[in-house]
Amino acid sequence: MKAVVVYESLWGNTAAIARAIAEGLGPEARALSTAEATSEAMADADLIVAGAPVHSLSLPTDRTREWARAGNLGPGGAPPDLSHPEMRTWLDGLRRGHGRSAAFDTRVKAWYGRGAASKILKGLKRAGYKPIAKPRGFFVGGHRLKPTADGTLRDGEIERARQWGAELARAME
Ligand SMILES: Cc1cc2nc3c(=O)[nH]c(=O)nc-3n(C[C@H](O)[C@H](O)[C@H](O)COP(=O)(O)O)c2cc1C
Repeated sequence: MKAVVVYESLWGNTAAIARAIAEGLGPEARALSTAEATSEAMADADLIVAGAPVHSLSLPTDRTREWARAGNLGPGGAPPDLSHPEMRTWLDGLRRGHGRSAAFDTRVKAWYGRGAASKILKGLKRAGYKPIAKPRGFFVGGHRLKPTADGTLRDGEIERARQWGAELARAME
């Protein structure tokens, strides 16, 4: 099975979850940023799992990425990594395929809303990848009134991501 986990991640939390999901999926699964997940890398994928941080209750946009940059919202004022494309841009360029799909997002626990994962899943579906699981949220540390991450994932989230990866692998059997 060719499984690829694709992520957008400004401060590394979504990337860490993506790598844990890939571990759970098995030794052949790879976690790639939206820059690394080229058409060649995605060709003939049996399963695409894609994830992004929740920004303003949805997927990051040019505007929210600019807020993140200009507002020094990262842990300790760390600059965000904006070197890879937005997940929404990546989804727009995804070539049609016939595999399966799943989607996740990372968010501050106290915040709710439709989130980014359901939007990602819609995009994957549009490209022909049929969902095999409900959208899943993973939680980062932060303050509910300050829309940023404190640079850490909540306890147990890496393990939860690994387990979800293993569940997805079983669903593919
Ligand atoms: C501009 C901006 C808006 C955000 N809006 C939300 C939000 O609406 N709900 C939420 O739970 N988290 C929100 N967050 C927190 C992000 O979800 C958190 O920074 C992200 O999960 C960290 O992932 P990353 O390290 O992969 O970038 C926001 C963060 C930023 C920078």
